[in-house]
Amino acid sequence: MHDIRLRPATPADIELLSYWDTQPHVVASTGDDDVADWAEDIALADDTWEIWIAEEDGRPVGVVQVIDPARERTHYWGDCDEGLRAIDIWIGEEADLGRGIGTQMMRQVLDASFAAPLVTAVLIDPLAANVRAQAFYARLGFAVVGPRRFGTDDCLVMRLERKAWRAVPR
Ligand SMILES: CC(C)(COP(=O)(O)OP(=O)(O)OC[C@H]1O[C@@H](n2cnc3c(N)ncnc32)[C@H](O)[C@@H]1OP(=O)(O)O)[C@@H](O)C(=O)NCCC(=O)NCCS
Repeated sequence: MHDIRLRPATPADIELLSYWDTQPHVVASTGDDDVADWAEDIALADDTWEIWIAEEDGRPVGVVQVIDPARERTHYWGDCDEGLRAIDIWIGEEADLGRGIGTQMMRQVLDASFAAPLVTAVLIDPLAANVRAQAFYARLGFAVVGPRRFGTDDCLVMRLERKAWRAVPR
């Protein structure tokens, strides 16, 4: 694997993001409750709802969304404390799974999130059935909070505290 760089998503990415949404490994990890409207999400992106495209040598390979759950417009997480972030991530093409790209993407967004002094912890909500993603997050220091239903989706909430992130070996 080569260098992975994150850049903000633009309207030029809508077609690719929509195509990735049709890939079976993406469909399998997406709940009924969080199907994206990319045109709207990109147009309304701001400091409460960031959408980053990961590129490997200039080729888009994945996407990661970082939201401020207390302030973002959809209120997806319900009432939340200030100082949290919530992340959603996926790799676009099946052939790019398991190459270490996701780990690099997460390290970069977690470093960037915790660079803000007010951020105390980061949340994640994989589907309860997505045990491979849960193992991926656990390796990055996320701890299980517990099951939670979002709409019709059975999820497992996991949380990474600032202290736990500092303790993860690099
Ligand atoms: C989860 C994901 C972002 C990790 O990125 P990645 O580049 O594949 O991960 P890395 O190569 O850095 O690490 C490999 C680990 O990712 C996880 N992983 C790999 N393929 C996966 C898949 N199809 N679904 C879920 N997790 C997967 C596994 O934990 C794997 O470790 P293992 O091989 O020991 O089982 C990526 O696999 C993916 O996009 N999966 C499908 C969508 C998804 O589940 N997103 C998370 C939604 S909460």
